[in-house]
Amino acid sequence: MSILKDFEQELKKDIKKAGYEVENLSLEPSNRRDLGEYQLNDAMQLAKKYKENPRAIAEKIVKFLEKNKRIIDINIAGPGFINFSLSEEYTYEIVNKMHEDIFSNIDRIEPKKVIIDYGGANVAKALHVGHLRSANIGEALKRLAKLVGYDALGDAHLGDFGRPLGLVIKEIKEEYPDLPYFNPNYTGDYSEVKLPITNEDLERIYPLASNKSKEDEEYLEDARDITMKFQSKEKGYYDLWKKIVDISKEEIKKTYDSLNTSFEIWNGESDEMEYFDELYRIYAEKGFITESEGAKVIEVAEEDDNSPMPPLMMVKTNGTKSYDSTDLAAILERKRNYNPDEIWYVVDGRQSLHFEQVFRAARKANLVDKQVKLEHIGFGTMNGKDGKPFKTRDGGVMSLNQLIDLVYQETYKKITNESIMEDEKKEIAKKVAIAALKYADLLPFRGTDYMFEVEKFADLEGKTGPYLLYSTIRMKSLLAKAKDIKIEKSSKFKGKTEREIILTLLNLPLSIKKALATKSLNEISEYIYKLTASYNTFYAENKILVEEDEKRKMSWLVLTETVYKVNCLLLDILGIVIPDKM
Ligand code: ARG
Repeated sequence: MSILKDFEQELKKDIKKAGYEVENLSLEPSNRRDLGEYQLNDAMQLAKKYKENPRAIAEKIVKFLEKNKRIIDINIAGPGFINFSLSEEYTYEIVNKMHEDIFSNIDRIEPKKVIIDYGGANVAKALHVGHLRSANIGEALKRLAKLVGYDALGDAHLGDFGRPLGLVIKEIKEEYPDLPYFNPNYTGDYSEVKLPITNEDLERIYPLASNKSKEDEEYLEDARDITMKFQSKEKGYYDLWKKIVDISKEEIKKTYDSLNTSFEIWNGESDEMEYFDELYRIYAEKGFITESEGAKVIEVAEEDDNSPMPPLMMVKTNGTKSYDSTDLAAILERKRNYNPDEIWYVVDGRQSLHFEQVFRAARKANLVDKQVKLEHIGFGTMNGKDGKPFKTRDGGVMSLNQLIDLVYQETYKKITNESIMEDEKKEIAKKVAIAALKYADLLPFRGTDYMFEVEKFADLEGKTGPYLLYSTIRMKSLLAKAKDIKIEKSSKFKGKTEREIILTLLNLPLSIKKALATKSLNEISEYIYKLTASYNTFYAENKILVEEDEKRKMSWLVLTETVYKVNCLLLDILGIVIPDKM
């Protein structure tokens, strides 16, 4: 139980002594700080329940609160808001407990298993900014889920099964018609065939093939045919497909690595589609598969829908299996192999209809138990100055690596510490660039769009990743300078600024709770900023290392180390790595 929760439990007991039962205590950091640091709003609720005057209830409660050693300056405002502040003693207790173990102020949930689907990179295509958001939000949510006790598994869910791969193979066939993959009479071992193609070639080939297919109906037809061939594991085509997947996967892993993003499960849509036949049978046996213009579909519309709900596509008119069916098959596969309590899909908000169709179809055939939660965690787009999804100068899709490089160019300029050698400087600038990009991505509520502003993201001042890194590194170096002192217990503070920090520390569980409830990292991002900014005010006000009052100096070091630990923990949750220096 967190320190905050324990505090709430104690307040509940006081209320009980006054003769009232509350289920969920309504304790909030006060926004009228002149009246107190916290406000307790329960008297209003209790008034309804007990049919008594709220102010009279508040007065009765206060009688017992007055005996509580953790609080002081109790007063009643308005119809019955109870305000109070923390006693000095209690503030020391909070800091010392958190200093000893920061997890002492984190609540844990009943263990649950969750699969988080937040990859979605496409094989043979460069990752783009959309994949950036899935990776950042998904990875951070996974880390947060683990922190509070989920058994959380990330699934890369690579796009390796659709028409883009048919197009790529079609173009390879044009360029290298003599490869044995295209020879139906080939009897050799495909694994020994040397494919003269690198990942760079693939990234060149896909846009080329895609353009050609738009102008050339026959080319497109061939690509469709090829898609069907590798989907049905036809010799040659399937072997080439597999090779392409292997080449591309390696690159994709590198890009995810650079984003500090990793997956426990490296499935692709193709792995999910191993379950397609079984899936199809389940729906066919229940009579849920219908034909629509030559396609095989599952109706998912419901009577009270007030906007059109198209059916879920299983097999397209041209015989290829659809994107919809990959997600439905994945539910069956996950149920079989992991039996999760929840599945979270961290995918662009513009796919909400797709997920609604998939979830309805899954429920229709009870692919998972009723209580299993399926949730689309949609996000907004990262936009350019024109307010439209971010593009390259010539209007193309910007690859993620290009984007990271843009930010890197900017953060590189910010590393001005002359004691840092060139090679190290580059390494540091990379870490800072990822921090800049991630923090900017996680700071707004996930559902809102935001603008890509590289100078702003890379700024050392303000709500930015570099500011947080710089400040955290400064805390570390202060602690390093005090390395001969055994940092033990706080027992003497000076004033307001320290209190501000301590209140923020105590409120940590609130931010975590809100972040989990909204599945958005904005709460945590704001929290780290607030904690860091109030620490920095304190740092500017005091000369910690030369303080003569030993008790005070010790207390400040305890506070510094506690804030440092919280920052390290939370930056890690956001997927941000702290360089040694900058
Ligand atoms: N590969 C898809 C794309 O790039 C995203 C996949 C999202 N995840 C999912 N389970 N459908 O658009």
